[in-house]
Amino acid sequence: MLNWDNPLENQNNNRDDMELTVVSQSLKETSLKNNNETITDTHHGESSATKLKVVSDKFTPVNPDDKRVVNGQTDINQLAPFKYPWAWAFFLNANKNHWTPLDINMAQDVTDYRHKLTLEEKHVYENVLSYLTTSDILAMRNIGLAVMEKMSAPELQIYQARQVYEESLHTWTYQHCIETLGLNQSEIYNRYRVVPEINQKIAMANQRLDSILRSDIDLKDPDVLHNFVISYIFFAAIFEGCWFYNGFSPVFALQRRGLMKGTAEQFQYIMRDEVMHAAFGIRVVKQIIQEENLKINKKDIRNMWDEAYEAEKTYANYILRDPILGYSAEMHLGQFQFIANRRAAQLGLDEEPFPGAELTLPWLDEQANLRKEKNFFETRVTEYQAGGALNWD
Ligand SMILES: [Fe+2]
Ligand SMILES: [Fe+2]
Repeated sequence: MLNWDNPLENQNNNRDDMELTVVSQSLKETSLKNNNETITDTHHGESSATKLKVVSDKFTPVNPDDKRVVNGQTDINQLAPFKYPWAWAFFLNANKNHWTPLDINMAQDVTDYRHKLTLEEKHVYENVLSYLTTSDILAMRNIGLAVMEKMSAPELQIYQARQVYEESLHTWTYQHCIETLGLNQSEIYNRYRVVPEINQKIAMANQRLDSILRSDIDLKDPDVLHNFVISYIFFAAIFEGCWFYNGFSPVFALQRRGLMKGTAEQFQYIMRDEVMHAAFGIRVVKQIIQEENLKINKKDIRNMWDEAYEAEKTYANYILRDPILGYSAEMHLGQFQFIANRRAAQLGLDEEPFPGAELTLPWLDEQANLRKEKNFFETRVTEYQAGGALNWD
């Protein structure tokens, strides 16, 4: 039996029973003490109900109209009444996509990796994994350390707390793939530090994060707020909405040929999360722009798309320097542009960043639909969604 106070301790010494006895004794003592205190309180005429009344007279009830995404003054510890019921709906939906990497059978992936993948396919697989390992830690730090604390409505923070957990789960997933396949951990994790083509994307994200990773920045200053919003747009619409959304597709291309199906299934669950992270972030940003009457500098947005595309081009040309069967750098970049246009439309921007971009991976959107893909490939049928149909995008 696991000792929850010390889960790593050797479990063969019956300490559980001993500790249970001690706990039940101390519970009895506490209970007796509490009873005495209750009696004493009553004698002094101070019931807890009276105390509550005095405290509550000092405050007025929360009016949801007073809530703000940032710079709000309402009680951050009181969830409802909601001003942003959509944020609560995101939280409920996120809880319908729960899995752990241990639930997915990786046995065939070990054989595929050792005996079936070509050198070019191994190069693609390992570098995709290497990029993702670092990316998800960055995503976790961004939302958990820089963004969440700036929110002044609890329904927003609650979804973001779930998002922090999901980013950690994604990191666990990559680590699980690396361990299961017996890859060299140090080599995979350090690759982004020594391969400039991978490092460029990470460096760009780190720069955005560093500019908002302080609790004392003044979001009442329009320039500071503008930088915060641009950074959130970058993480939601590009980092998660394009780079992540598109980032799993080289492995999905292997899956479509019956290879690395366990890894691909793990990535499908992650992709569902990322689609929601992107949609939530975009929704939050639009709300801030409206509430704060913020004018977004179009040139900054244009530069962001251009930089993101250039970095993606460098990355794609490196991981796909030799195209693999059914997938090429051109397809990857065409899809980036197509998805970037979709994110711009979600943001409500009146210009497409890449006019005329065409869908180059028509099967990619279907990857979010696990049931369909599973039936198609006749893999293990497990549907984790507990509620009704979800609109993932
Ligand atoms: Fe993630
Ligand atoms: Fe994410």
